[in-house]
Amino acid sequence: MNRTDIINELIEARELKSYLEIGVRNKADNFDKIKCGRKLGVDVKLEAVGIKTMSSAEFWEQNGKRSWGLIFLDGGHDYETAKADLLAAARVVQKKGVIVMHDCLPKNEAEGAPFRRPGGSPWCGQVWRVWAECVDGVIVDCDHGVGIVQDICPVSAELAVPPWKDRNLYEIIKPEDWHA
Ligand SMILES: C[S@@+](CC[C@H](N)C(=O)[O-])C[C@H]1O[C@@H](n2cnc3c(N)ncnc32)[C@H](O)[C@@H]1O
Repeated sequence: MNRTDIINELIEARELKSYLEIGVRNKADNFDKIKCGRKLGVDVKLEAVGIKTMSSAEFWEQNGKRSWGLIFLDGGHDYETAKADLLAAARVVQKKGVIVMHDCLPKNEAEGAPFRRPGGSPWCGQVWRVWAECVDGVIVDCDHGVGIVQDICPVSAELAVPPWKDRNLYEIIKPEDWHA
C-alpha cells in the first residue's frame, strides 16, 4: 500500500469529485494514477498539462476560495510552507472531503531535519512537526507516513516530539489495518 492507493480508496469511499495535489514533481508517480473527475496539480517547478506552475503560496492567494474533495499536500517540506499549506487546505476542503499529508513519519533525525542534508537519504522535512502541532488524525505506516487529517487542533510546539523518538504519541496504523 502507498499514498496512491490510500488517496484512491478515500476518493472512492467518500465519492469525492475533485482532487488537488500540492507538489507533483513527476505526474506519472502519483498524479496520473489518481481516479477522480476533476484534478489539478500545483508545482513550483513542473510545467505540464493539468499543472499550475507556481508556488503553493501563489496558488492559495489566487484560488483560496475554490473548494476541493481531496487535497494531497506534498509540496514544500520546510516547516513554514508545510504549515501554511495545511492551514490553507483546511479552509477549502469540502465538508465530507479530506486532506492527506505525505512524509509524516521520518525514520530518523536526518529524514526529519529542517533542511535536506547532503547524502541522498529520503527527506521528509518538518512535515512531522506540523502534524504533531496541528493535526488530529491517523498516519498509515507506509510510504514515509501517509497522514489522513481528521481535524486541525493546534497544540503547543513543545509537544511536538519527533516520531523516531516516540511513535506512541502518534496514532499510527499498519497498512493492513487501514480502510477508508
Ligand atoms: C516530493 S515531490 C512531490 C511528489 C508527488 N506528490 C508524488 O506523490 O509523487 C515535491 C514537489 O513539490 C514541489 N514544491 C516544493 N516547494 C513547493 C512550493 N512551495 N509550492 C509548490 N510546489 C513546491 C517541488 O518542485 C517538487 O516537485
